[in-house]
This record gives sequence, C-alpha cells and structure tokens, in this order.
Amino acid sequence: MAETIRWGIAATGGIATGFATDLALVEGAVITAVGSRSQDRADEFGARFDIPHRHPSYEALAADPDVDVVYVASPHSRHAADAIVFLDAGKHVLCEKPMALNELEVASMIDAARRNSRFLMEAILTRFTPAYVELRRLLADGAIGTPLAVDAEFGMPFPHDPAHRLFDKALGGGALLDLGIYPLQLATMVLGPAAAVAAVGQLGVTDVDEQVVVSIRHEVGGLSVSKAASRVLLGNTARISGTTGSISLPAMFQNPKHFTLVSGDQTRQIDAPYDGIGLRFGAAEVHRCLAAGELESSVLPLDETRRLAAIMDEARRQIGLRYPTDI
Ligand SMILES: NC(=O)c1ccc[n+]([C@@H]2O[C@H](COP(=O)([O-])OP(=O)(O)OC[C@H]3O[C@@H](n4cnc5c(N)ncnc54)[C@H](OP(=O)(O)O)[C@@H]3O)[C@@H](O)[C@H]2O)c1
Repeated sequence: MAETIRWGIAATGGIATGFATDLALVEGAVITAVGSRSQDRADEFGARFDIPHRHPSYEALAADPDVDVVYVASPHSRHAADAIVFLDAGKHVLCEKPMALNELEVASMIDAARRNSRFLMEAILTRFTPAYVELRRLLADGAIGTPLAVDAEFGMPFPHDPAHRLFDKALGGGALLDLGIYPLQLATMVLGPAAAVAAVGQLGVTDVDEQVVVSIRHEVGGLSVSKAASRVLLGNTARISGTTGSISLPAMFQNPKHFTLVSGDQTRQIDAPYDGIGLRFGAAEVHRCLAAGELESSVLPLDETRRLAAIMDEARRQIGLRYPTDI
C-alpha cells in the first residue's frame, strides 16, 4: 500500500482547484489543509474538497504540523517568497510554473530547499503525462535518430483584462513566463541547455509581452523555436525533428493523449490516454521522490528549472521586459 502523503494547498484559484480535483486520483494522497489570503475562500475551498484545516493565511498553513508537502498555486510574482516560507517551515514544496520571476529568485528557492533538506520541484506537470513518458522513451531508443530541431507554440486569445495575471506586470504578467515556458521546457527536455538565445517580442499596453518568439542554439547541437502569445490563438502543436524521423504532438501539445511518430518510412499513432486533467502524474512523482528520499526529480531537476529561468531572463532582456524584482 502506498504511504500516505499529507498535502497542503496554498491559494484557491483556477489551478489550485484543478490540482485538488486531480489529487483524488493519486494513491496515498490526502489534502489535510488549505491556506488562503481570506478565511472565507479557505472555508469555501475546504468545504468543496472536504479539507479539514482551513487557514486564513499562507503563514498559518506553513505552521500546520499535519502537512508534509505544500502545492504553491499563487501568482508567479509570489512563488519565491511563498515557497521559501514553506521550505523554512520544514515542508516539501511543489511550486507552480514558472518557478519564479527570474533566475536569482529561483536560486534563492533552491538554496532554501537545500538548507532545509526539503524536496522542491517546479510544477511543469506535462513532463509526467503518459505521452511525455513515452516520448522520452522513444527518443532514448533512437526512434527518430538524433533530434536536431524542436518547434513548439502555445497561444490563446485571452480577453485583455489589465488585472489578470497574464497582463498585470506586478503579478509577473506576460506570455513568455506563463505560456512560453511550455515550448521552452520541451526544447530543453529534448535538446538540453542553451548555448545562445535570440528573442523578439511585442509588449502591450500593460508593458508585458503579448507575443514572443525565442530561438535557441543548444549546447549539444540543434536549434529550437518557441512561440507564445496571449492575444491570439496559435497552433498549439509541437514537432521534434531528428535525423531519421520526427514526432508531432497535436494541440494541446502540453497534455496530448496521442501523438504521431514518423520513424524511417513508417508512420504510427501512439496512444497515451489518461483520466483527469493531467496534473496527477506530477503529484505521483512527488510521492515517488519522497518515498525514495529524493529531494529533487530526475525528470525535472532543479538545475534545469534554473536554466529555464536564465533563458527567460535573457529573452526578457532582449525584448525589453523587466520586473520590479529584477536587478
Ligand atoms: N500547471 C498548469 O497547468 C497551470 C495552469 C494555470 C496556471 N498555472 C500557474 O499557477 C499559478 C496560479 O494561476 P491560476 O490560474 O490559478 O491563477 P488565479 O486563478 O488567479 O488564482 C491565483 C490564486 O493565488 C492567490 N493569490 C495570492 N496572492 C494573489 C494576488 N496578489 N493576486 C491574485 N491572487 C493571489 C489567490 O488565492 P487566495 O486569495 O485564496 O490566497 C488566487 O485565487 C500561476 O503561477 C500560473 O502560471 C499553472
């Protein structure tokens, strides 16, 4: 029988709701506590998911002795400070993407995890879905030869609301950090660290990027092109091209239930179905790591999270987007 892991949820918004729903599908997971900036929202969320401890602040959640691991689902601008509060209180942390606003903040979170000997992972949960597991296996088996190109794009026509986290600079707004991280993480998963980054972007009236293209030359060879947009619908597909074949991920490429493999002269559809909305596999990885005494995931190591933040720092420098916490 799986060991029981007691989860705390920090924040009560859209993705916290999705995650709490999917956690019901994870063996051994119980949600013992929720923290919110408001007692009413903690109570409402707690009632919806049958959570016994309902705290009126994130600090009170951090002090709850009946919590092993906290899922941080606040806006990106708060991720670093919130995660460090939980790590310093002795909790393990799964932190929503992007891990933080810049590499410096990510480094401070990694320091906090290491000085407290606690688990920390960025919640790029797409990495753990059945399709991505199979994709990595096929790449390792040489199904497309040597991968040399990754092209991926994520764009949705969000209504222009200056107070929404996608457009509000104070909350870490911008298409790059919110949406661009999905194509970028695919590029680094397949082709590894960046050797050179070139970005162009278009800033909107709230002074955050509404479209961005990031081209990367990777250290081991190969190029990637990642696009993100918050005002227009893009194809939301991805393609990995290798010397003897290719893999095409259909829309939405972050959580596909099937994809197409072209290997030599053979074309085949790979099915990778699952129940839920795709968040539970990352939660299951947290359980696996904790049971094994591992303080980071080998599928999404902290070094890679830090490198992703550095790529986005450089892209933002080139497109002229700075957040107040940037040095
Ligand atoms: N992995 C994924 O698939 C995925 C999908 C969507 C979003 N995300 C990430 O998850 C994070 C939250 O996104 P979301 O869509 O859940 O946002 P959301 O619906 O706006 O919810 C954010 C929550 O954060 C809390 N919060 C704390 N300080 C806040 C502030 N100053 N302004 C607004 N809310 C504040 C609020 O809960 P309380 O008031 O209860 O404290 C709020 O409900 C973002 O970093 C985003 O990039 C991940």
